[in-house]
Amino acid sequence: MKKVRLAINYEEYSSIEEMDPKDQALVREAIEAQKGSYAPYSRFNVGAAVLLEDGTVVRGSNQENAAYPSGLCAERTAMFAAGANHPGKAMVSLAIVGGFGHSVSPTPCSPCGACRQVMAEYQTLGGKPLSVIMFGTEKAWKFARVDDILPFIFDSFNEK
Ligand code: THU
Repeated sequence: MKKVRLAINYEEYSSIEEMDPKDQALVREAIEAQKGSYAPYSRFNVGAAVLLEDGTVVRGSNQENAAYPSGLCAERTAMFAAGANHPGKAMVSLAIVGGFGHSVSPTPCSPCGACRQVMAEYQTLGGKPLSVIMFGTEKAWKFARVDDILPFIFDSFNEK
């Protein structure tokens, strides 16, 4: 037996202006996407934007339903739309914003476990790192690849 420590690296920003211009643009796309959020039950509105390898941006927002489990998170809405409409194009970056009443929270919006698993699948499918930007107006985080937010990914493609 040996004890193992896992460390992750990520970047933290205290304003959007500090970010790389391409990341800023993707965050602004996510903020636009949030306008389409339909969340009458939780009132928590989330927007996501996925950047594809050819520069295409696909937006998504959370869509709720009176039968609660029938709704879907913003991230999966965006990734499934990208997968459905742009098959074969790798997803290279994903930005997420969230807040109550269509506001953008000061703290980062962190994706749920199910969305992380879907990110992992598309990262493997695309064969390129998929970076994840969790944005808040006073604090934002950027992770270089999905592995950093989902260690020990279940990945049936890479079964050894
Ligand atoms: N939600 C997202 O869309 N993405 C997240 O990362 C966290 C949660 C949605 C699901 C639901 O519509 C609402 O936010 C409250 O959980």
